[in-house]
Amino acid sequence: MIKAFLFDLDGVIVDTAVFHYKAWKRLANQLNFDIDEEFNETLKGISRMDSLDAILKHGGVSLSQEEKEKYAKIKNDWYLELVNQMTVNDILPGVEIFLKESRNLGIKIALGSASKNASLILEKTGILGLFDALIDGNHVSKSKPDPEVFLKGAEALEVEYDACVVFEDAYAGVQAAKAAGMVAVGIGSCEVLNNADFVVKGLFEMSPSEIITKIL
Ligand code: G6P
Ligand code: MG
Repeated sequence: MIKAFLFDLDGVIVDTAVFHYKAWKRLANQLNFDIDEEFNETLKGISRMDSLDAILKHGGVSLSQEEKEKYAKIKNDWYLELVNQMTVNDILPGVEIFLKESRNLGIKIALGSASKNASLILEKTGILGLFDALIDGNHVSKSKPDPEVFLKGAEALEVEYDACVVFEDAYAGVQAAKAAGMVAVGIGSCEVLNNADFVVKGLFEMSPSEIITKIL
């Protein structure tokens, strides 16, 4: 029996995945190389410092720990310039109604994101109050594909792992959900998220009860 839904943030609830891409690309360009969308796909769901390490490796650049911290802060400042302009209009299609219908069905709701900016983003878009628990980059020590973020989400909601459904747009995020023993619904394309139990284009595509029926 399904009792809880755990949502990734970037690319599932809000379209900040594109803000991350813009800010990382700007940083790579400043360091005299470039990243493309295909490479960016591998960064989704990965923490800020792990993303920076992957980007520097991709560009063949090596930096001291101190420099890395400086560049991670620069990227985050650029990212926050975009986040600070966010409003309720930046919530992805179908999300609010999906969250409200889930609540009406008695399903518990948690956020499971690697982002340290999660509560700011939920506040800016006005949907913080729709979540029963928030597990973000400030609560975990291991990046997806490690299941830590979703295990902690289920524990915060006091729901067994196998009664949880995870909604994810990242390959690494789906891996994390499966490693936690949860159902993984991919948000995006079937080709990229071929490890998910099934894939929808967005939360507008199916209602919570249709999702539950499909799982049973
Ligand atoms: C999410 C995104 C990643 C991002 C990470 C950390 O998982 O998919 O692209 O790097 O969060 O986000 P933060 O806001 O803490 O830099
Ligand atoms: Mg995501």
